[in-house]
Amino acid sequence: MSNILITRKENCIKCGSVFQAKALFNDKEKFEEMCVTCVARDRLRNDQERAKIASTKRRMDMLKLTPRQQGHTFDNYNIREQQPSKCCSIVRNFLADFKNGNKDNLVLYGTTGTGKTHLGTALAKSVVNDTNSIVLFREFTALMQEIKTAWAERASTHYLMKSLKECDLLVFDEVGTNKNPHIWDKNIFFEIINHRYEHYLPTVLLMNDDIDAWAEREDPRVVDRILENVKLAAFNFQSYRRRSER
Ligand SMILES: Nc1ncnc2c1ncn2[C@@H]1O[C@H](COP(=O)(O)OP(=O)(O)OP(=O)(O)O)[C@@H](O)[C@H]1O
Ligand SMILES: [Mg+2]
Ligand SMILES: [Zn+2]
Repeated sequence: MSNILITRKENCIKCGSVFQAKALFNDKEKFEEMCVTCVARDRLRNDQERAKIASTKRRMDMLKLTPRQQGHTFDNYNIREQQPSKCCSIVRNFLADFKNGNKDNLVLYGTTGTGKTHLGTALAKSVVNDTNSIVLFREFTALMQEIKTAWAERASTHYLMKSLKECDLLVFDEVGTNKNPHIWDKNIFFEIINHRYEHYLPTVLLMNDDIDAWAEREDPRVVDRILENVKLAAFNFQSYRRRSER
């Protein structure tokens, strides 16, 4: 008896259309409230929301940010002073342009402790949150070491190189720290930048060197490609780390 279904006409609480609502014979209070179309639509929306949350989490994990970097946002970057404010606007505008399909590169350069890594990570996280893009954030020297170690251990670097070449946005932190790079490092850097250049994939470089000093010392093939279409922000002001009053 308990499994017998009874039906009656109801108005769907979502779309208002009349449908045959079912209930169990001994639970007449529990007639269905939504038509099949609305039930299916709700289920699909829930599935899509779950998939989006999972995708954002997966892509956020791919950034491999340190605990300190995870705390960096545009909102907690202090813009009371003119120069940091201007730099922050350049990065924010780059984000807006990237979301609109602009393929320019971005270079943040200048004094230590001024917030290049802060804004670089804020940018990377915003792109992950606001779009479906794959973003990678890597410290340059550590990455080169990672590739070298993989080579030495005869592990495949194919996947790593492929992800660096093909991700939608690549952020390299601490570029140019090694003042005397091996030809091997130079070739790896060129291989990545050249692939990205050929496929209109934007790259962000964070560095301490002044842009002219970097351009003079870096592989000209890399410099030419990065600077062809680039937004520049000069962080030439006092370190935030050593401020008494923040
Ligand atoms: N304008 C700012 N508002 C709030 N915090 C800031 C600001 N500028 C820098 N900081 C903080 O100061 C610290 C140093 O900043 P960050 O590491 O981004 O500097 P950097 O320019 O990358 O330095 P380096 O060239 O040495 O790598 C971080 O903890 C960062 O969050
Ligand atoms: Mg830094
Ligand atoms: Zn309905």
